[in-house]
Amino acid sequence: MLTKIFFFLLFVLVFVSLQDLANGAINGSTKKMIEKANKNGPYLGLVIPNMFEMNPLLSNPNYKSTKLVIDYAGRRFRFGKIYKKPVILVMSGMGMVNAAVATELLLTLFEIEGVLHYGIAGNANPNLNIGDVTIAEYWSHSAMWNWQRHGDGPENPLPFEGENGFTREIGYLKFGTYSTKGEDNLLNNVWYQKEEVYPVDGTPEQTQQAFWIPVDSNYFSLSKSLEKLDLEDCINATTCLTNKPKVTTVHRGTSANIYLDNAAYRNFLYNKFNISPVEMESAGWLSFVINKKALSDLAGGGTATSNEADTFSGLSAQNSVIVMVEFVKLLAGYNRKLLSSFW
Ligand SMILES: *[C@@H]1O[C@H](CO)[C@@H](O)[C@H](O)[C@H]1NC(C)=O
Ligand SMILES: *[C@@H]1O[C@H](CO)[C@@H](O)[C@H](O)[C@H]1NC(C)=O
Repeated sequence: MLTKIFFFLLFVLVFVSLQDLANGAINGSTKKMIEKANKNGPYLGLVIPNMFEMNPLLSNPNYKSTKLVIDYAGRRFRFGKIYKKPVILVMSGMGMVNAAVATELLLTLFEIEGVLHYGIAGNANPNLNIGDVTIAEYWSHSAMWNWQRHGDGPENPLPFEGENGFTREIGYLKFGTYSTKGEDNLLNNVWYQKEEVYPVDGTPEQTQQAFWIPVDSNYFSLSKSLEKLDLEDCINATTCLTNKPKVTTVHRGTSANIYLDNAAYRNFLYNKFNISPVEMESAGWLSFVINKKALSDLAGGGTATSNEADTFSGLSAQNSVIVMVEFVKLLAGYNRKLLSSFW
């Protein structure tokens, strides 16, 4: 009988402490580790979509792990240095929600002076090639849509159109344009919409709207000097890219929870919005961050029958790490006053 009660109580205790975690409370030992770690900050936060993109950094000779790891809310925060600059690595997982959650945790828990994001992306810009690394000045979320009913056109107002509501300012995609037969298509038009944002220095619950979000302008101008970097062009002795990859700053990139392997939509994004990298995380943060994307495929526009990402994705991840590490090196020797102007 006694044993039974004991087990019963134990069960209750375990249950309560699991609930604590589920509620997001930080336990005592984790809290102490965070406080201690913050004494060695501020850090650069590196938000990385997955292990495939993190591993080349972990094995990069210029990344020195300090062995400190803090686990919280299903995320692992790895501490280290790149050219003496303290950094925290966190794997976000795929998609914009994951990217936003990981970034928010990073900014809430730790002393962060800037956030960098790197990884592989699709490419919509016909002037760029697989393996190139792009640094975009503006990012948008391109899957916030108002889907118009069949029969309505560009001259008809959208439902809930108006101030802080939906808009016809940004533009639309007409499915009929891409039909292989007639122009009419029951899917009609989708109109691109702005994201609702709640700036940290704004009034709570007062929304602002944003479509093109700039990365930090100091980081962006600094990154222009990376354009002369040499990148890898071969995965082994026999398989090389036809074009020597380069680093280039570009006007715009875009994100959506969509893996894009379709040439028609890729062309639309480039022609309509002048977009180069296309991926699944960056706009999820809506924080002003610098962002390096190595182009791993042509987002459905290449000539090869299979997606080129398969062959050259490793090389692309490697190239994005090379550029990111060089960028941190620049930052390490860069005027701190300029950098802190945003944060
Ligand atoms: C505190 O949380 C960490 C990370 O979730 C966990 O590893 C550790 O065991 C917890 N410590 C206590 C005392 O519950
Ligand atoms: C180089 O990589 C390609 C693509 O993965 C592979 O088909 C080829 O066998 C490799 N060549 C050598 C020499 O390892």
